Amino acid sequence: TILILDFGSQYSHLITRRCRELNVYAELMPCTQKIKDLGWKPNGVILSGSPYSVYDSDSPHVDPDVFELDVPILGICYGLQEIAWNLGGTVAKCDHREYGSARIQINKFGSDRASVDALFEGLGDEMEVWMSHGDQLAAPPPDFHIIGHTKSAPYAAIAHNAKPLYGIQFHPEVTHSPRGKEVISRFVRNICGCKTDWTMEEFVGKEIARIREICGETGRVIGAVSGGVDSTVAAKLMHEAIGDRFHAIMVDNGVLRRDEAAQVNVMLNKDLGVNLTIVDASDLFLSRLEGVEDPEQKRKIIGNTFIHVFEAEAAKLDSAEVDKGKIEWLLQGTLYPDVIESISFKGPSATIKTHHNVGGLLEDMRLKLIEPLRELFKDEVRALGRLLSIPASLVQRHPFPGPGLAIRILGPVTRAQVQILQQADAIYLEEIRAAGLYERISQAFAVLLPVRAVGVMGDRRTYEQVVALRAVQSEDFMTADWFVFPPDILRRISSRITNEIAGINRVTYDITSKPPGTVEWL
Ligand code: XMP
Repeated sequence: TILILDFGSQYSHLITRRCRELNVYAELMPCTQKIKDLGWKPNGVILSGSPYSVYDSDSPHVDPDVFELDVPILGICYGLQEIAWNLGGTVAKCDHREYGSARIQINKFGSDRASVDALFEGLGDEMEVWMSHGDQLAAPPPDFHIIGHTKSAPYAAIAHNAKPLYGIQFHPEVTHSPRGKEVISRFVRNICGCKTDWTMEEFVGKEIARIREICGETGRVIGAVSGGVDSTVAAKLMHEAIGDRFHAIMVDNGVLRRDEAAQVNVMLNKDLGVNLTIVDASDLFLSRLEGVEDPEQKRKIIGNTFIHVFEAEAAKLDSAEVDKGKIEWLLQGTLYPDVIESISFKGPSATIKTHHNVGGLLEDMRLKLIEPLRELFKDEVRALGRLLSIPASLVQRHPFPGPGLAIRILGPVTRAQVQILQQADAIYLEEIRAAGLYERISQAFAVLLPVRAVGVMGDRRTYEQVVALRAVQSEDFMTADWFVFPPDILRRISSRITNEIAGINRVTYDITSKPPGTVEWL
């Protein structure tokens, strides 16, 4: 296992992901973690980047015991400066903040000047790397030597003369460092000697055994499903572990995609054999949403109504099937990024938008929580889904927000507006799939704008609504780029939407990246 100590960099979770992709188990902890309280010994430690400067009065510092663990340590960016700060090097502000691509030259050693450090073994003489820093090393600590340099950073990569201690200025964890993953591989596999036994094949057996042990012979579990990847994989895993003692509930909140509830029923219940109840509560949700325009208000109403409907359904199930024992557990499809979010070191970055999902369910229900996916990243959940024979079309599904179409209708939500947006969404995704682009896009959806535009149809002027189309590519949804469609596909989508949907006479395409935009419009 690799221990990743997080100093609040926006990339910290990516370090964890890269290790996992290399089949090496890695866990992220805040940089304030005391080594003596860890309870396990890592095979190696990675120190992340940070928005801080090591000399700031309030800057975070690692427990010095980490250097006593006697395992390899790799410092990335701030992590490098932290090693220098602890071991007697000096760090200085750069004249300009360096942000973007750079080329690192890999230093050669030995009498024939042919060998390179183990960290860069087999990576050639130079490589493209991603830099993002305001400070850099001005002098390495004693007993360190330089293993790589760039034009502006003479100490871009350093290593200890005798111990496996490394520091690199660049970010190997981001995809803008094309060979970064290989650098991480050299560290975790070759230098730390970690086992490459983190695979979903290994995980699934262990997790099913763990669920069976937790639930015992009679424990019953309920869980909400949405038709999304996480809840479907979690539900199928529970079904594999405890069969019909798991019961899934899907709440139709009136702002789902077209035919979503019926499709989930076919897939989860008929095809995958999971016990499922679908509750149509669309009237209740839509009546509570009447006249509401504020997005946070919409999220709150949908979240609270969901809890209310779910609890009532769970109570019904509990009393209807008393002979089967009480429901003791609530399944949640929590993923590792949510766990990271709650444990990672909070730098100065603040929450930008609140995402209300099913939080709050537990306090009232007195159910114990079971979270079989809490160690997994999304791509691992997808791999697990494939292993559990969940259809590929579902495993690759784009995310869909809990508050659904309500946050994609920019004005008040009515059944008529929902139906217009459902049609636009269906046409848009159908064409994206037909063009074979669905898997290249991370998320695509239509937004119904609260404005009217003039158009012409036949020889009549029309005055109708506008749809905006959004499609983004993103690794983690923290940042995103808009997707470049071939023009003929946009043309076909636009013409189908305006021809087939009464009430829409104009289609626009959103060309805003995140930041400064967000993925959703609300
Ligand atoms: P933003 O709009 O914040 O979206 O850039 C990032 C990702 O989060 C999803 N999203 C939500 N998901 N409840 C959810 O379950 C919400 O209230 C919510 N708001 C945004 C969004 O679809 C994208 O995948």
